[in-house]
Amino acid sequence: MIEEIKNHLDKVKKAALLSVEETEIFRIQYLGKKGVLNDLFKEFKNVPNEEKKNFGLILNELKILVETKIQESKLTATSKRSDSSVDLTRPGTSLKNGSIHPLTSVKEEIISVFKRIGFTVNEGPELEDDWHNFSALNFPEEHPARDMQDTFFVEKDPDWALRTHTSSVQVRVMESSTPPIRTISPGRVFRNEAISARAHCIFHQVEGLYIDENVSFADMKQTILYFAQEFFGKKTKIRLRPSYFPFTEPSAEVDVYWGLENEVDYRITKGTGWLEVMGCGMVDPEVLKSSGIDPEKYSGFAFGMGVERIAMNRYNIPDLRYFFENDMRFLSQFA
Ligand code: PHE
Repeated sequence: MIEEIKNHLDKVKKAALLSVEETEIFRIQYLGKKGVLNDLFKEFKNVPNEEKKNFGLILNELKILVETKIQESKLTATSKRSDSSVDLTRPGTSLKNGSIHPLTSVKEEIISVFKRIGFTVNEGPELEDDWHNFSALNFPEEHPARDMQDTFFVEKDPDWALRTHTSSVQVRVMESSTPPIRTISPGRVFRNEAISARAHCIFHQVEGLYIDENVSFADMKQTILYFAQEFFGKKTKIRLRPSYFPFTEPSAEVDVYWGLENEVDYRITKGTGWLEVMGCGMVDPEVLKSSGIDPEKYSGFAFGMGVERIAMNRYNIPDLRYFFENDMRFLSQFA
């Protein structure tokens, strides 16, 4: 009998209870109604008196061992269970990759082209005063661009408005630095226009300014040609058409040759093959003067382009509004 209990002691000591289920089977086997311990306790009355003490002691030892074993395994089994709730063999939940907004990637690409030839990036406030957005840029008081139609003025103080172009940033740069100046200013601009597939009250620009001694129209043309060929491809041709901006003289509109190879090209270029990409011109001496730069000594050129327009052509996007709706069906195409 004692031998049998000793065997059990051995077995219990060695038992490895790894899971909750194993522990439960073990518990029933030893502590259940028809379990080992109950059976042994029932034997107690048959044990000869002189052995009773010994039997009792060793049986108790077995009982305590069984109980601690169960107790221990419950601790490890529970911590095992929380471990095993992470099943390392299962395929993981994949993290969805975000994507860069097409406006951001086009903007970054434009910036990187100009950075390579020494332009630095300057940003400025979206809420501007009249001086930086208009007056310093030689907009006459009665210029239609100042009209309520085009500009979001601050109701309580019409000296303030949401900037209509990032030329305002260039005024700030001219005011706070001395030539040579080579700066580009990317940013969001605002115009009070009805929203449609081709116009929006918010859009983005990258404008540039180069001021130094003896900067010529030829320098401007070459810089723009360089940009066009870096951005649109080495063989890209450009043409300049006379235009008007209050802050540049002479002023021009730049077209790149897009081609007429297919239906889409016809649509994009309205059948001409040429695509208008930016405005540019030699900085008006009045503008230099307004910002404290001596027009006798310095000259410069400026240019400005709309990011949406370029992105629409690059990705063949038919409607400007897609850029601002944050529709996943649109955005995930750029992942
Ligand atoms: N600021 C002009 C615009 O918003 C673009 C431009 C910049 C034109 C510099 C000429 C020179 O339309």
